[in-house]
Amino acid sequence: MLQLTDLQFSSHAQVFVAATCLGVTALIYRAYLASTESNLSCPPSPLTWRLRGHLIPPRNGFMTVESWIEEYGPLITLREGIEKHVVIGRYKAAVEIMEKHGASLVDRPRFIAAGELLCGGMLIPFIRAGERAIHTHLQPKVAEAYQPLQISYAKNTVISILNDPHNFQDHARTYAAATSMKVAYGKTTPTSATDPEVKRVAKFADKFRTVLHPGAYLVDSIPWLKYLPWYARDLRDGCRDSQELFIELFDRLKQEIGGDEAGPSLGRYLWEKRSSNEMPELEMACLAGTVFAAGYDTTTLAICTILMAAACFPEEQRKVHEELDAVIGINRVPAFTDKKSLPRLRAFVSEALRWRPLIPMGLPHRTTQVVAFENYRIPAGTTVSGNHWAISRDPDVFPDPNAFKPDRWLDAEGRMRDDLKFFGFGFGRRVCPGQHLGVHKRGSRPLGLPAHVENRTKPLDDMAFMHGNFANEQPCTIDFQTRIPEAELRRMMERDVEDI
Ligand code: HEM
Repeated sequence: MLQLTDLQFSSHAQVFVAATCLGVTALIYRAYLASTESNLSCPPSPLTWRLRGHLIPPRNGFMTVESWIEEYGPLITLREGIEKHVVIGRYKAAVEIMEKHGASLVDRPRFIAAGELLCGGMLIPFIRAGERAIHTHLQPKVAEAYQPLQISYAKNTVISILNDPHNFQDHARTYAAATSMKVAYGKTTPTSATDPEVKRVAKFADKFRTVLHPGAYLVDSIPWLKYLPWYARDLRDGCRDSQELFIELFDRLKQEIGGDEAGPSLGRYLWEKRSSNEMPELEMACLAGTVFAAGYDTTTLAICTILMAAACFPEEQRKVHEELDAVIGINRVPAFTDKKSLPRLRAFVSEALRWRPLIPMGLPHRTTQVVAFENYRIPAGTTVSGNHWAISRDPDVFPDPNAFKPDRWLDAEGRMRDDLKFFGFGFGRRVCPGQHLGVHKRGSRPLGLPAHVENRTKPLDDMAFMHGNFANEQPCTIDFQTRIPEAELRRMMERDVEDI
């Protein structure tokens, strides 16, 4: 029999359902009104009826975006819940908007999932003093101080590849971990990819990549979700684990500074400037930790991608070897000072990172004022990102874009072209602060590797490194062949840095 309480419940339920329906209708109305308005002024928007906005698949989603760019033009507006996100997919638009209007795009969006839940509000762009410190500390002159260690780490990598060629991904991780540890904490004792702290930072970096994917977490469209204590437990746990790690590493650094054992590093710089930059200790620890994570993740992927490209395109690899043989011969490894004399090696690297960009969707910026481009207008407060995959497939700038052609980076005299911008490090005033340490700008390190080692085996999946998270994958086994007798190569790699 129907009870009074059932009736009361049912009327509450009805009110709840009605309120929910009204809320949803209002949301849809606002979202679609916004998208209709956006058609008047904002770049065009591919049609979607999804309440959550455009669906970008987690795997190869950058290709979906590229197909929209091909259909709708150089700029498109995507919807994430009720937020607009303008995506730039062509080179000229990237130069005009991200570079020339760089000052209007220096901000980052709020990043609720990545910045607030996973990083506990300690993401670099939101720590202004820290951001300045990073850019100062990693500028080209300071980056030079890390060169000798980069050389010795690169030589160790060659020896590791000789000892155990099938695990080259682990050796790339070890190189990346050692250099990032040095930059963030000045660590000089040996570092390995299998160290517990490196594994923990790799876990954090993997999570960070996943969270940044548009639409990965509903909270970026519905901010109040973050107040539900049971929502996104994985992000809160990740935040706790990473902060614990970053504090441990920073405490160790402080002890080393106290004992006068610490080399120069970003962490040390932050600690020594603590009275002038007025940063709380947790912020300093998180900044150093985030730089460690960012450098580790990208450097690993860059090395793996370049070695894979060498294995995939033996003819282009051969041309690099010819240049290396002509410029440095076979009795020494390339030095940083050789960079200018090795344009073909640099072109190869630029092409590898264009062919398989490490951050294919780019990192979002946010407009602080209206930005105009051709017939389009991007309102202030809009999230804007340059889609590296689509930009590097712009057929007007990179004809036959899917082909691997290092020559496109060279002029008629065989020098690196200065009229073609490499966008792999991002854009404008938010460009990667680690670029002067990275394998691209540094040119020859650790790419001295191909000087004496040849990669022969084609990978099973040449898109595998695009997904960043390859902890358990072996997408690529490369058959490394030495180009000089192995004993001689080992001797050369074991020689002291000063001998080079
Ligand atoms: C080949 C290697 C690398 C590539 C391709 C790369 C690429 C990028 C890209 C595309 C961005 C976003 C720029 C934008 O928003 O427009 C970025 C940001 C960043 N990178 Fe790198 N990166 C590399 C190496 C490094 C290294 C070695 C470090 C540190 C040691 C580093 C630290 C950072 C940091 C801290 C940011 C955030 C900057 C900010 O928000 O102001 N990166 N990187």
